[in-house]
Amino acid sequence: MNKGFMRVIFTVLIGLWSVTLLSDTEGVFDQYREMLGDDNPAIFVIFDGEEIWYAPAGPKSVSLEQCDLGLGPGVVEGAYAQLPRYFPDVDRVQDVEARLEYCMTQLQGLTTEEVRGKPYSLRGDLGTELEALVAWIADQSSGLAIAPGQAHAKERATYALGENLFYYRAGPHDFSCATCHEQTGRRIRLQALPNLTTHPGAAEAYSSWPAYRISQGIVRTMGWRMRDCMRQQRMPELIMGSQASVALQTYLAVNGAGASMAAPGLKR
Ligand code: HEC
Repeated sequence: MNKGFMRVIFTVLIGLWSVTLLSDTEGVFDQYREMLGDDNPAIFVIFDGEEIWYAPAGPKSVSLEQCDLGLGPGVVEGAYAQLPRYFPDVDRVQDVEARLEYCMTQLQGLTTEEVRGKPYSLRGDLGTELEALVAWIADQSSGLAIAPGQAHAKERATYALGENLFYYRAGPHDFSCATCHEQTGRRIRLQALPNLTTHPGAAEAYSSWPAYRISQGIVRTMGWRMRDCMRQQRMPELIMGSQASVALQTYLAVNGAGASMAAPGLKR
């Protein structure tokens, strides 16, 4: 298949469908998903992510091939499904983004500020390297059971912290994550709100991120999803790879454990 040509086709499709976004309904997105079938435009981002992984980068000009995502240096297949997990070399629990930051600073010589500078795309951007890397890494766990680490005490403490954060009410509206995500079958402005405190809700949500956002034409990571929901909650900006971001994702991963990874998903 010609990559360039398919990219054009998808772009046109997305353009057409974004016109219908004005009358935003879930039905429209279901139709779109049906049309695409197994074809997810994220495939191009996945290709990019793989290239970025193997490309020398940073002041040290080395690739990420020696990066240990939890299953040993360079092992990518199956790694995402077992994140977040405890890493003895940093004595902390990390999600994929925190781990990539570690590898980029340690192996490639980038600074934390450089990695965290602009991890996620803004509207209209074509995607960041971090988004591409995460898309590829997650794709390498497709079909595998969500199995975040919970054997280590710090992994269990991270889950507890995530649960606390999930129910923690704050900000000008006194919202918590639970305010919007604790009940089943609720909607906000036509968008379905998953109940993330139950296994089915958390499993469906967690397994489908990172995801291709149809309305934005880019791949978004679960870290971005956390940040954007924090924004909806009118909370301070969530930092990628931070303890809070890792804890929230641990809470969701553990609640959804056992379900099969199906990322990258397709979202409105
Ligand atoms: C004001 C309501 C609100 C609050 C508070 C909120 N969210 Fe959300 N959340 C949403 C909406 C709306 C969506 C769907 C967004 C969309 O489709 O664009 C969503 C989507 C999600 C998803 C993706 C679900 C899926 O299946 O794709 C996750 C995961 C999530 N939120 C987690 C959280 C977490 C964790 C918090 C607390 C930090 C939180 N949310 C706080 C409204 C909220």
